[in-house]
Amino acid sequence: MHLLITGGAGFIGSHVVRRFLRAHPGCRVTNLDSLTYAGNLANLRDLEDDPRYRFVRGDITDAAFVGKLFSENDFRGVVHLAAESHVDRSIADPTAFVMTNVIGTVNLLDAARRAWEGNMEGRRFYHVSTDEVYGTLEDGGGMFTESTPYDPHSPYSASKASSDHFVRAYHDTYGLPVVISNCSNNYGSHQFPEKLIPLFINNIRTGRELPIYGGGENVRDWLWVEDHARAIDLIYHEGKNGETYNIGGHNEWRNIDLVRLLCRIMDRKLERAEGESETLMRFVTDRAGHDLRYAIDASKLKHELGWEPSITFEEGLEKTVEWYLANGEWLEGVTSGAYQNYYEAHYGGR
Ligand code: NAD
Ligand code: DAU
Repeated sequence: MHLLITGGAGFIGSHVVRRFLRAHPGCRVTNLDSLTYAGNLANLRDLEDDPRYRFVRGDITDAAFVGKLFSENDFRGVVHLAAESHVDRSIADPTAFVMTNVIGTVNLLDAARRAWEGNMEGRRFYHVSTDEVYGTLEDGGGMFTESTPYDPHSPYSASKASSDHFVRAYHDTYGLPVVISNCSNNYGSHQFPEKLIPLFINNIRTGRELPIYGGGENVRDWLWVEDHARAIDLIYHEGKNGETYNIGGHNEWRNIDLVRLLCRIMDRKLERAEGESETLMRFVTDRAGHDLRYAIDASKLKHELGWEPSITFEEGLEKTVEWYLANGEWLEGVTSGAYQNYYEAHYGGR
């Protein structure tokens, strides 16, 4: 089985590449990634010598390049994660989100359709999406199901919603065998320290302020990234074509409560006085259009495919903190920009 995984040098993508290679000895993976600021090949250092793994640097917005890649390789399937993924960046520069998340996705869909035409049996195009396409929920009111109408608010979520619609259109119009999953907030190792949890771990570690948007009342539903990768593997192999699956942790936290929990764990791990990290908390201007609450109803995935999160948030957050503290070199490589030399140093000339 030769799979194309896009965005494999990113946070979730690197866990997905590792998951497929470890769980399926007969699987080969081509990781296609353009290495934006979010792509870090050091995330996959442990797989570099695996003959079943290959890295290709390329941009999914380049239709000719994507078409050529498909004509030169007989991919059985695609797991598409490459995206611009940070909401704050989408507010500052929406165009990059349209290019990669919409145009890039259409380029991949079109290349798959052309390459697989007349031979769709056993193929699959898996699109990894987000719960943010559903919009926002009232405090304490309901959860997102697979039939919740789309109502995106940020340029990021609007671009992901658009890509989801194109994926369904390629299924309905051309019979492309597709599956989509919409997942809640992920946390774990190798996440770029611009997102809440790794940013705050790094700031506490280095004694910098913790900028909490608005009053910290916003609620997110957190899932350990390795549980997400396991769900993607399961849905890729056992999900039904044309279907959508919600993935979530049944694990809602107000930002302020999460930050306090994180501060307590950090104080303990760093052997600092209790309450020391909390003194770094600052309430700052709210994110524009900040969605109040996300919560995923993942019962379809549980009842149809038997998936459930494997660990509690407290366990997962503890493991996550331990990983960042044990991998200060990774964090320093990212924050200094040195990680961007990894490609030349390890793949230069190849
Ligand atoms: P990330 O930002 O960490 O990684 C994105 C990867 O895509 C990077 O390696 C980057 O180099 C690559 N990339 C970006 N533009 C590209 C382009 N034009 N061509 C080729 N490669 C490109 O993202 P992430 O947090 O790992 O998210 C992965 C996917 O999962 C995204 O589609 C995102 O929407 C979705 N998702 C993320 C979360 C979350 O909590 N992080 C939750 C649900 C869904
Ligand atoms: O819900 C899934 C989505 O989760 C994914 O699709 C996105 O790719 C991913 O980035 C994430 O989006 P969020 O905007 O929810 O994640 P972020 O880590 O940026 O923010 C989490 C919450 O913390 C949110 O309510 C904003 C708040 N926040 C974030 C940052 C970076 C702060 O209060 N301060 C901060 O500095």
